[in-house]
Amino acid sequence: MTNVKTYQSYRGLPSLAGLASIEDAARPGLSVEACVARLKGYHYAFLRMHEIFTARITAEPIYELKTGFAHHAYLCAEHVAALRQRIGEMREPPLGLEEIPHEALQIFFDEIRAAPTTEALLLGIYEKALPALNAAIERHLRDTNPIADAPSVRVLRFAHLEIDDMLDFGRKGIECLVDDATYATYRAWLTGLDELLAMSGALAGAARALNGEPTRRFSASPHVYDRAPKRDERFQDVWNQGVNAEAFLYTPEMPAKAKTVMMLYKRLREIDVPEMMASIIVETKGKPWDYYRDMSRQLWDEARHAMMGEVGFVALGVDWTRACITVNWSHRLNTECTPIERHAVLYFIEQGLMTKTGKRYEWEVGVESGIPLMATIQDYDWADEVLHAQLGRLWYIPEMGDWKKALDYGDQCWSRILSNWQAVKDQGLTRHANWWPDIYRQACEAWGEPPDANALAFAETYEAARADLKGVGGSA
Ligand SMILES: [Fe+2]
Ligand SMILES: [Fe+2]
Repeated sequence: MTNVKTYQSYRGLPSLAGLASIEDAARPGLSVEACVARLKGYHYAFLRMHEIFTARITAEPIYELKTGFAHHAYLCAEHVAALRQRIGEMREPPLGLEEIPHEALQIFFDEIRAAPTTEALLLGIYEKALPALNAAIERHLRDTNPIADAPSVRVLRFAHLEIDDMLDFGRKGIECLVDDATYATYRAWLTGLDELLAMSGALAGAARALNGEPTRRFSASPHVYDRAPKRDERFQDVWNQGVNAEAFLYTPEMPAKAKTVMMLYKRLREIDVPEMMASIIVETKGKPWDYYRDMSRQLWDEARHAMMGEVGFVALGVDWTRACITVNWSHRLNTECTPIERHAVLYFIEQGLMTKTGKRYEWEVGVESGIPLMATIQDYDWADEVLHAQLGRLWYIPEMGDWKKALDYGDQCWSRILSNWQAVKDQGLTRHANWWPDIYRQACEAWGEPPDANALAFAETYEAARADLKGVGGSA
């Protein structure tokens, strides 16, 4: 007589499609109801972390964290989407995905959202929230039936893999930024987070009543979103509009290699797009989840474009901190426009990138320069922008009715923002210094080539650009 221990598959082939042993699959595991209750907990955790990461991108000064949060927000958005889909497969209409699984879990994430410093945020997310979620997922993978619940297992294994990567980033970040004294400041708060997690059933759908009510510390007062972009100290002279990058790029007699240096500037300057898009996502409520997922994907792409600029500069041997990576665009859109106006401007700019002087041209310059990395950067930048134009058609145009109205509205919104060239100068925020010759010379030295006289002499600023900001090429 065979049993789960002695049963043999045909000629010793892996049984059960390679997913599990008969013995493991013979254990009953979780009911659909219990499984769904747990999945909803993970869904809520990813949803809240997406919200928290996104809300921090703009005002986080440190560039490595800003781009890291952009990445992690996007990963959370994808896992929310995957979990929603899986829960929808499990006899769950109505899904109840907007319900809060447990009040203590809500407060747990409210507390992290309200973390008063970057250090507290890092500790809350990477020492508490993500490890708790990962532990819950590990428990789920042990508890559930590997064949009956294989679709959940697949979704959760992928989530686990990416949480591990996120934790690796976060723990290194904590090592670099949080010293013992700072850690001590937050010890009581972190213990409070542990208590909230325990009360909520530690994401396992099994709440445990503790003595007393869950308490709020940082989240005791209402949450205030900070939409003003901030930068770390490597970003100097951030109101500078002294080098008109587009004018340089579209001057035919400028050499392709010099143009690539300006394109790297434009790429790195794109760090303003995540800063701006994050505010749209945070301040636009009530959309289907696919909207937030797509917008977060685009936001992450724009962070990648900035990082491609960073990589390109470093590979070239150029110190990018001596270029002025302006914050003007995101600051003005975030503080002077509504979310839909910001989206309209973004769409208007991205449509412009689809013309023959847009992304195709930048790729052609990259190829012509003979610098293979530049061709790669611009090739993928172009592909991403085609995707972004599609996302604009999907999510922005329907808001306006039709394509023509949508484009006109974007044009109008951007035209309304008048140039602040003189104003920032008068306020002493910048003298619009020409940083270009220094950056270009560094590149030429690295190449071992003399600078092109024409390119070196370039001194066109954004001052003469039209009074409306349209002449100040946004590069989304
Ligand atoms: Fe971009
Ligand atoms: Fe884009």
